[in-house]
Amino acid sequence: MPRFPGPETPIVSSRTANESCWPGALTGRSVIRKHQCNVRASRRSAPFRRCRLKSVKDWRVGCLFPLYANGAVANIQILLRMDKERKLIVAGNWKSNKTNSEAVALVMDLIRELAAVKEVDVVVCPAFTALSDVSKLVLGSNIRLGAQNLSDSVYGAFTGEIAPGMLRELSVRYVILGHSERRQFQKESDALVAKKAANAHANNLIPIVCVGETLAEREANITEMVVETQLRGSLAGLTAEQVESTVLAYEPVWAIGTGKTASSAQAQEVHAFIRKVLVSMHGEAIARRVRIQYGGSVKGSNARELLQQPDIDGALVGGASLESKGFVDIIKNSI
Ligand code: PGA
Repeated sequence: MPRFPGPETPIVSSRTANESCWPGALTGRSVIRKHQCNVRASRRSAPFRRCRLKSVKDWRVGCLFPLYANGAVANIQILLRMDKERKLIVAGNWKSNKTNSEAVALVMDLIRELAAVKEVDVVVCPAFTALSDVSKLVLGSNIRLGAQNLSDSVYGAFTGEIAPGMLRELSVRYVILGHSERRQFQKESDALVAKKAANAHANNLIPIVCVGETLAEREANITEMVVETQLRGSLAGLTAEQVESTVLAYEPVWAIGTGKTASSAQAQEVHAFIRKVLVSMHGEAIARRVRIQYGGSVKGSNARELLQQPDIDGALVGGASLESKGFVDIIKNSI
């Protein structure tokens, strides 16, 4: 049963429920106010489905608790399934790996293995040289295509740059921007990332904007300051609507390619902080809808715990996305 909060987590202290929310969505006010709970009951006796539920006290996952149905108290085991209102998005960043033929072989495996997956937006981001062939293969599948960079301009005399129209023609939907490797090796600034993000939106591409602190910054206790500066700078000039459809990726630099993953608590803390910054930039409603991926040594074995965190809405995966089993495991474990 995926996405259960821990048994110790108070879900909602008390609330009123009625028939219409069975088995549909109940929205709690406390820790899961940003999520929906689908309530399922293992019913013991009465035709629960037809009962009018008056109130539910002491919501606890997996506990027996009293439930007032048609005035009568019944002990019913309620299973709460938390479904985030934001759809998970898991993207494979193949970086400077895979020749065209290797990329084709990998994506063919993924198409076959992931054909039934509907709960997660699956994105692959091959190198530019493989986009054309991979694009033809994913057409009609549930896999979406992403690129690893985008020019801040349109067509023109910009040697080595990739214009948005070139990506659109290949049905590319997403572009990774501001990855720490580009910030570090190509010296990309927040201002440049913001220009690229604006260019992406202007051309119907969805930017995946990456932020994250280095180990030295974490040790100096300035993670929040660094992340906030990157976030505000990289989203500068975007409208609220554009921010809402932007995907963010929190990738602590010290966790990228190192095998060291942030603990789910560490990651959740920064994700919640990012959402708080988004609230201050564009208000609660927008912030609630922005998907924030975690990236940094995500693999099948840690994906579930990370993606169960309330503010983690997917993963940006490097190393583990380079072979089909690793990537498929992450997606299957996140459902
Ligand atoms: P990693 O890379 O999964 O190999 O740590 C993640 C990323 O750079 O996006």
